Amino acid sequence: MTQPSNGRVALVTGASRGIGRAIALGLARDGFDVVVNDIERQREELKAVATEIGTFGRRGLPLFADVSDRGSVHVMVDAALAQADHIDVVVNNAGILIANTVENLQEAQWDAVMDINAKGTFLVVQALLPHMRRRGYGRIVNIASIGGKHGAPEQAHYSASKAAIMGFTRVLAQEVGQFGITANCVCPGIIVTDMGRTNLSDQSNVDKWVAVTALRRLGQPEDVVGPACFLASDASAFVTGQSLNVCGGIVLS
Ligand SMILES: NC(=O)c1ccc[n+]([C@@H]2O[C@H](COP(=O)([O-])OP(=O)(O)OC[C@H]3O[C@@H](n4cnc5c(N)ncnc54)[C@H](O)[C@@H]3O)[C@@H](O)[C@H]2O)c1
Repeated sequence: MTQPSNGRVALVTGASRGIGRAIALGLARDGFDVVVNDIERQREELKAVATEIGTFGRRGLPLFADVSDRGSVHVMVDAALAQADHIDVVVNNAGILIANTVENLQEAQWDAVMDINAKGTFLVVQALLPHMRRRGYGRIVNIASIGGKHGAPEQAHYSASKAAIMGFTRVLAQEVGQFGITANCVCPGIIVTDMGRTNLSDQSNVDKWVAVTALRRLGQPEDVVGPACFLASDASAFVTGQSLNVCGGIVLS
């Protein structure tokens, strides 16, 4: 099944900065109109991304919603469909990382990370599926992490949330393939963003990560764009249920 010919539209969550912003701009460069989502706190940044999408001759539509809140997600998806007519691609990128050891982790920290990272992905996908099924087309790209495959100290809850996204995506792919919908994960490594800096608190941490990366450098948000756009495109029409490491060779599989 190839992409319907009328204008292509993508929805990217957590798109006001970092990896989500880079992917939203990459999709605009590839010819998509892009619905960009983030939380209210990111209002100005998200509006700036929507404006930047306009410089590619595409439409940028900012919609605010907390992806962990079912009601807000449905309002967002309804507004996106009302204003953009259809959605071909969703990139579930919104996420948080709160560092803490298992011994000290508060239940509220566990819940927040699982709710935004894992449940948020589920809620957005579930809200969009009836629409994608009706059209017989969809590309679902979930941003997981190599943390979900390996992980690092103080990130057990984050690792669990990202492993959950990968498990969810493998089963989702089996359920929706018959409707012309693919579902895959991108697993970034250490990418220099607000979140990525959690792993890069001092020079010794930077050196440590560079040393274990085959390409001997940290990732930039733009490094994630090509793989995400590939999984959002018809070039990946026969790829589904996969988790693609984009980490410069930290995890090799
Ligand atoms: N940076 C890295 O090293 C790295 C590595 C692996 C995976 N990732 C994943 O990539 C994705 C993007 O991370 P980033 O590094 O750009 O981080 P970031 O913190 O710069 O961006 C995350 C975005 O998600 C938004 N967001 C947070 N909670 C939200 C909610 N409830 N609803 C909607 N939006 C919400 C934030 O406001 C922010 O704009 C995340 O899923 C993250 O787990 C990042």
